[in-house]
Amino acid sequence: MMKISNTSISVKDIGKTVALYGWVNKKRDLGGLIFIDLRDRSGIIQLTINPDSKVYEVASTLKNEYVIKATGEVKERQNINKNLKTGEIEVIVTELEILNKANDLPFDLNNVTALEDTRLKYRYLDLRRSELQDKIIIKHKIMNSTREYLNSLDFLEIETPILCKSTPEGARDYLVPSRVNPGYFYALPQSPQIFKQLLMISGFERYYQIARCFRDEDLRADRQPEFTQIDLEMSFIDEEDIMSITEGLLAKIFKDVKNIELKLPFERMTYEKAINLYGSDKPDLRFDMVINDITSYFKNCDFKVFSDVINGGGVINAIVVKNSADKYSRKDIDKLTEFVKIYGASALAFLKYDNEFTGSIVKFIDDDIAGNFISNLNLNNNDLIFIIAGDKKIVKTSLGALRIKIAKDLNLVKDEYKLLWITDFPMFEYSEEEGRYIACHHPFTMPQNVSELDDKEHALAKAYDIVINGYEAGGGSIRIHDMDVQDKVFKSLGLSKEDALEKFGFLLKALSFGAPPHGGLALGLERLTMILSGTENIRDVIAFPKTASAADLMTEAPSEATLKQLEELHIKISQ
Ligand code: AMO
Repeated sequence: MMKISNTSISVKDIGKTVALYGWVNKKRDLGGLIFIDLRDRSGIIQLTINPDSKVYEVASTLKNEYVIKATGEVKERQNINKNLKTGEIEVIVTELEILNKANDLPFDLNNVTALEDTRLKYRYLDLRRSELQDKIIIKHKIMNSTREYLNSLDFLEIETPILCKSTPEGARDYLVPSRVNPGYFYALPQSPQIFKQLLMISGFERYYQIARCFRDEDLRADRQPEFTQIDLEMSFIDEEDIMSITEGLLAKIFKDVKNIELKLPFERMTYEKAINLYGSDKPDLRFDMVINDITSYFKNCDFKVFSDVINGGGVINAIVVKNSADKYSRKDIDKLTEFVKIYGASALAFLKYDNEFTGSIVKFIDDDIAGNFISNLNLNNNDLIFIIAGDKKIVKTSLGALRIKIAKDLNLVKDEYKLLWITDFPMFEYSEEEGRYIACHHPFTMPQNVSELDDKEHALAKAYDIVINGYEAGGGSIRIHDMDVQDKVFKSLGLSKEDALEKFGFLLKALSFGAPPHGGLALGLERLTMILSGTENIRDVIAFPKTASAADLMTEAPSEATLKQLEELHIKISQ
């Protein structure tokens, strides 16, 4: 007989005999009566073994995590446990079989205090906990809803290669040496970008894939070297079509997974506005506190630091923390100053308002400036203003990060989902590391105006990101389908004709054989799962994740290769 799930048993089964399988989650031996919390994927049910039962002796040998089969009668429980789905019943065991024993676990699954490294080493045990299982189940539901939705709209699920040529998503590639082609390497795909465009050129019109992607980049709480995208591409469409298909997909996912009805269409904000008001292209709109440009208040002021900034083309910006001046001591503000320095700010000025101003720059606040503050920033008593002056990018980024930190510290983040599109991304961004302009999205993104390509600071792209609660949950663009435009963009990126041909010659050629207008988008499956399962740690939503140093502590990957393997691959390790 097939196993039934623990939580399918309820009061309706009282009097019936059932056979249950699972793990001993906890045993309580009351010196007479033995209670077992039997755990399976669905949850916990209480088994009771009476002292006069023929299985009493076996039951007393049970330990946590033993695997058992228990048969018995379902009874109503004397003391109802409201925390359990099966809390109104118990099973009085008449037959008990130990299917497998278990050694003592390296940590207690019911009270996890072990370090994350230990839990990652024994990931298969940590995954027994419902807290983690629930998140993996949410991920499954997201994938299921995705397939249902896209299949219903005539999308085709098509696989693309894992061993391929480098794709230009911007991160470092993982390389795989080719044994049969000495000295040659495959790259693992950073995304299926080029392949999905080629599928449009092949005439598939609507493609999707739940695609594994690999990026060798610095890891953060929301980044893994190996992750999954819900990747889609469509032909004969414009930005509006991609956005409405994505909105429909997210609406279905939120409904199926959380029973939440999203309001359509989503809010939209240009990239420029997002940076100006929130200091980020992924603003968290669950709380207010926008960034205000107060440069003009100080144009005649005698505070040298500020006038130097203004004369040097910089800006002065501020955020107002409402009704919180009394919550911040000088020491707290010193700590916040250290915090904004991480983002390049040189200092953090502050003002407290309580019918009059106090604070670090109060002696420069004349009546005019005070009037500007009070009326333009709608100040009330006990408001606290943080001010940063300097280069616009640094000022915006620092205040954007400070806004988030303060909102978290003061518990201002509302328990809700805020989805929005960021539109009108720049075509290019300057990379300090590479000392040149690189593609802001990727080099196949259609410019809004081909004639603007030479103005790298201001050229805009037909690109859009979907942002949820401050996370970049996905991004996409309309692609270039014209070989000449693609050529021009490569040129703008400083890619010589030879380089472009060597790297993407096949794509340029393909574009010349009747490429349809097309575009698409990819959602980060892990990011979506994090958002819907309420965790800030991406490892929680991946069954077998990597650490911050890209290692799998359980299998001990990466590991050394044998000399024989290296020789076959024509590789020598230089020490
Ligand atoms: P992009 O690079 O913006 O676009 O990636 C799409 C989405 O994938 C998620 N993501 C990640 N998630 C976890 N770990 C990572 N290291 C990681 N990197 C990215 C993010 C991101 O929004 N080919 C284009 C899509 C397109 O244009 O259609 C692409 O890959 O949620």
